[in-house]
Amino acid sequence: MNALVTGCAGFIGSHLTEALLADGVDVIGIDCFNDNYGRREKLRNLERAMDWDGFEFVPIDLARGDLFELVEGRDTVFHLAAEPGVRASWGDRFEQYLRNNVLATQQLLEAASRSPLSRFVYASSSSIYGEAETSPTPEDLTPRPISPYGLTKLSAEQLCDLYHLSHGIPVVSLRLFSVYGPRQRPDMAFNRFCRAALDDATIDIYGDGDQTRDFTYVADVVTGLRLAARASGVEGRALNLGGGSRASVNEALSLIGELAERELRVSYGEAPNGDVRDTCAATTRTREALGFVPQTRLSEGLAAEFEWTQESLRPAHALSEAPGLQITGGARRGSTGRRRGAPPPARRDPPPPRANPGRAPGTEACSSAAARRPRTGARRGRSPRGARRR
Ligand code: NAD
Ligand code: UGA
Repeated sequence: MNALVTGCAGFIGSHLTEALLADGVDVIGIDCFNDNYGRREKLRNLERAMDWDGFEFVPIDLARGDLFELVEGRDTVFHLAAEPGVRASWGDRFEQYLRNNVLATQQLLEAASRSPLSRFVYASSSSIYGEAETSPTPEDLTPRPISPYGLTKLSAEQLCDLYHLSHGIPVVSLRLFSVYGPRQRPDMAFNRFCRAALDDATIDIYGDGDQTRDFTYVADVVTGLRLAARASGVEGRALNLGGGSRASVNEALSLIGELAERELRVSYGEAPNGDVRDTCAATTRTREALGFVPQTRLSEGLAAEFEWTQESLRPAHALSEAPGLQITGGARRGSTGRRRGAPPPARRDPPPPRANPGRAPGTEACSSAAARRPRTGARRGRSPRGARRR
């Protein structure tokens, strides 16, 4: 199998990329280092993938143009690149949302329509539902987004559906529910809460904190994305990817307080426009179609994210720029970042929350765990670059 992963330097995309590489999948990864957060964080997300021979990084903007050469010959496309984030989608930044969510998806689908693919997996969002009248929310509820972000994610999902119907692209849209874990985006709740807890700074809660989310651990999301790439009979469908741990923001805060072993400073303010009160995924269809059952409890996943935050705040980790990692722009293929003479990467991400004897059939190990145990020379082109040099 080979794959194209868009948004490979992002939070979820980097975990997915590593999980694929660790299983011997040849991956082309695309990212344009969009300015929704720091280039430095994204380079750091990419560090481990760069150590695999099976990885080629192509630093391009999907919205810019002809992507055919990148899609040609790929079995599977995982489309994760996007302008994410609910609250920033009002006002001036909407242009970015249109460009990176709608136009970029249309460009990729155009290219995909000219190349036979076995699957096109699109990372959609629970935000397409808006204030859902039914909870748990089933996939056939009429979507009614209440944020510009949700609207653009729905438009992209509908574009996927359109290209499935008109051009036969074997698309599956997965509606992800508030994903968390190591490398979570810096604008997201748990990342902000963990950092503030460690710094003894004030945590700003938007609203009364009793809003609930169906929080989904990133390794479970990676499992779901990969199951969607190979399940049969799911083309043209949209499925929820959630059901991990429904909790209120206040409940999550008290878990973080326990991890930090201190009383947290918390300030409550206005709930912003676009933030839904509650999310909760109906999970039956995804379980039946993909065999997907999330495995990670909130307390375990939060402990992993807290430990990662602690590690990334250590001075030694605050690199000026990931050393040895050079990204050459411009060329479309072959502009791969390479480690030159650098030792294998430091092991920074915490272990997965727990070994999982009850994992659903066909599901994979946590991406960060898998990436820490790369195969060494088991198959040609699959050894990590660091190991090969030893
Ligand atoms: P992220 O910002 O960490 O990753 C997205 C990546 O896409 C970034 O690295 C960015 O540089 C890249 N990108 C954006 N526009 C691009 C373009 N035009 N060309 C090339 N690269 C581009 O975000 P994430 O949280 O990892 O989200 C990944 C996907 O999952 C997104 O599609 C998002 O809408 C979806 N999603 C995320 C969550 C969540 O809780 N994180 C929930 C639901 C859906
Ligand atoms: C998340 C992602 O950011 C979106 O990209 C994604 O599409 C969406 O999930 C989804 O499920 O579709 P959100 O639920 O807002 O959106 O994620 P968090 O940033 O984790 O926020 C969770 C809750 O905490 C929200 O109610 C938010 O208002 C609140 N919050 C967030 C705070 O109270 N304070 C903060 O500093 C940040």
